[in-house]
Amino acid sequence: MAQAGAGTEEIDSSRPHPARVYDYLLGGKDHFEVDRQAGEALAAQAPEARMSVQANRSFLQRAVRHVVGSGVRQILDIGTGLPTAPNIHETAREVAPDVRVAYVDNDPIVKKHADALLTSSGATSIVLADLRDPQAVVDHPDVRRIIDFAEPVALFLMAILHFVTDAEKPDRIVATLRDALPAGSFLVLSHATGDLADRRDAQAVYDNATASMNLRSHAEVGRFFDGFDLIEPGLVQVPFWRPDTPPPARSEEVGFYGGVGRKAG
Ligand SMILES: C[S@@+](CC[C@H](N)C(=O)[O-])C[C@H]1O[C@@H](n2cnc3c(N)ncnc32)[C@H](O)[C@@H]1O
Repeated sequence: MAQAGAGTEEIDSSRPHPARVYDYLLGGKDHFEVDRQAGEALAAQAPEARMSVQANRSFLQRAVRHVVGSGVRQILDIGTGLPTAPNIHETAREVAPDVRVAYVDNDPIVKKHADALLTSSGATSIVLADLRDPQAVVDHPDVRRIIDFAEPVALFLMAILHFVTDAEKPDRIVATLRDALPAGSFLVLSHATGDLADRRDAQAVYDNATASMNLRSHAEVGRFFDGFDLIEPGLVQVPFWRPDTPPPARSEEVGFYGGVGRKAG
């Protein structure tokens, strides 16, 4: 099985990278031929893939507006992906201009692009680090420069945990991050699932990528919210999380669950 990058490797154009495949599916410009082939193979196996990634981005925007509207002024986004307008800090600052955002990704191509686009102000940072070493993320000086862990934080784990295998103990990873957050903090999470259709062939597209795809059930994804109170409507397919417009046609086929939880005091 392919191993995810440790956060220091060079850009590899010989294997699909999750960030670049996702960018391709979103209609972005930052990908190589190998990523386009993986994206096409994925869409052939899972025809809802493009709709699912768009729905995931829309959920992200709604969740940003919700947590900032609830008073949180710091966001830690792990698994940022390639810059995709509007980025988290742009949406957040439409609600409150003083929001600070620390972006974290283990893909050097994400950091390269984000260095140019996301960190033009002192209130954002982009950090090359790996979710699978969560304490290193929390302790990273460029995270600490932006995030004060004594004040509520919104932790975003959007479309990233399915790149962590069970053997890498995603429950432990999320628990370590949760324990670093004070009461009143939020967890915003989305995760790919095979609950709605058999997606083992789509999952296999990532066998040659820099990280494997690990689809999880509703119950398995729900366990990541241990220690958080899920706010209404709970863990649902992302188009149905507090939609601000009627969900697009065929939203019930979207293969991502999403939810927002609040850490109790
Ligand atoms: C599918 S993209 C999601 C982008 C964005 N969060 C969103 O939902 O629109 C997943 C991102 O997670 C990153 N990623 C995957 N495994 C990671 C890890 N172990 N540590 C840090 N980032 C990781 C990938 O490089 C990629 O940029």
